[in-house]
Amino acid sequence: MATSASPIRTLPFLSRLTKHHRIPVHALEEASEQAGGELVRLNMGPFRPYLVTHPDHVQHVLVQNQSNFVREGMFWEPLAPLLGEGILSDGATWAESRRILQPLFTARYVNALAEQMGVIINELIDETITPGRPFDISRGISAIVHPTIVRLFFGSKISVADIARLVPAYDVAVTAKAMRLVMPFVPEGVPMPGDRAFRRAIKAIDAVVYPRIREARERARQGLDQDSVDVVARLVKAREDVPGEEGERRIRDDLVAMHGASTETSATALTWVWPILDAHPGVAAKVYEEIDRVVGADPVSTEHLPHLPYLKMFVSELLRCYPPGWILPRKAVAPDVIGGVEIEAGSTVLLSPYLTHRLTEFWDAPSVFDPERFAPGRESGRHRYAYWPFGAGPHVCLGQHLFMMEAPLLIAGILRKYRPVVHIDRPVTPRLASSLRPPPGLTMTLVPAGRS
Ligand code: HEM
Repeated sequence: MATSASPIRTLPFLSRLTKHHRIPVHALEEASEQAGGELVRLNMGPFRPYLVTHPDHVQHVLVQNQSNFVREGMFWEPLAPLLGEGILSDGATWAESRRILQPLFTARYVNALAEQMGVIINELIDETITPGRPFDISRGISAIVHPTIVRLFFGSKISVADIARLVPAYDVAVTAKAMRLVMPFVPEGVPMPGDRAFRRAIKAIDAVVYPRIREARERARQGLDQDSVDVVARLVKAREDVPGEEGERRIRDDLVAMHGASTETSATALTWVWPILDAHPGVAAKVYEEIDRVVGADPVSTEHLPHLPYLKMFVSELLRCYPPGWILPRKAVAPDVIGGVEIEAGSTVLLSPYLTHRLTEFWDAPSVFDPERFAPGRESGRHRYAYWPFGAGPHVCLGQHLFMMEAPLLIAGILRKYRPVVHIDRPVTPRLASSLRPPPGLTMTLVPAGRS
């Protein structure tokens, strides 16, 4: 077939993964450096996905021609029993869920949620942190983030015992399929480590979620839930016209998918805060000074947030360097041309904010952590798709504004009282899991801030 498209380079990848088996993110970085922003294919043996990093190409796939790049294929199928047919699917069921969920994330509703979130976070910090005692950072932060989200989503409709069942089940469900993400070409029929744990976790989640949905529907029928602002009550109202089990399943799918999308990403991002503060004392001093001045010893609230601009710059830079959603896979429905290169129908296209955020064409010294990149006015000349930790286009993250309030509430909530002492015995390199996690086993001790 005659075509005007240019030939594409295929870069070795399996051999790179073998070389960097201890730190696979280096294989990804090396391939992206070799690609230099061009579209390339990665040679993973039987599987040769396209790698998209250039902001123009990101814009093409996620925005301009997004209907040709769907969330289907080998990366999405293993997670289907968890995510169901709602907001994290694609096509008509996704569009319907997006229409229902979008109003829950308007500025007004997010502000109301964030106010509540501030109260819950302050309570959980007091409950879960023991100053002077070392703890696993990832577990400690999850112990605040996960119950916060569950309480925001379910309001008062969920018991402490159910939260205690739900939180670890989610944790297993989002991490158990990590092997399949690294080796997506292994068919679902071939058992892999994590499969059974995944199925058990889904059962445990459903055993908590379905009864809560039925109760919420019953309350709504009796006219008892008119003023509830929690997400379950809102979803029940939105699905009034879908009766019986089908309605329950649609509510379950959105609730569970939203939970998955919000907890793993937020907890991972907020785990990175501490090793980064530890490694950058100059940045840390500015963060501490701002929080001491603005929040002092008071409980942190949404009213403080507009007065914490440096903390916001810090969080933006954190998401540039360590975007939790490090890889976005899509399947090309029809053939297409991106940046002059022909894409085959049915093939997998991989997009990675982690790699786009490190392109030297768009970022000076990209490996340096520098919140000043996000100082007022500094962003104006930047390519719109050079920075996209929350995705882009019609699937852009629904929770980004909520996270940009959750993050300073949690960080300032801790730092108004404590200073972190991080215990590090090796370089802190990112780990490729379902999100871009710091290495396991990273611990810290929180000591009183000693404000005079
Ligand atoms: C650091 C925190 C977060 C990051 C980095 C993040 C990242 C992302 C990314 C990259 C996408 C695009 C997925 C795609 O295009 O396939 C996305 C979608 C989504 N996010 Fe987030 N997210 C975060 C927090 C949250 C929170 C707190 C919530 C909910 C309250 C949330 C809910 C969602 C939902 C529902 C979608 C799917 C939207 C759609 O497909 O229409 N996220 N997120």
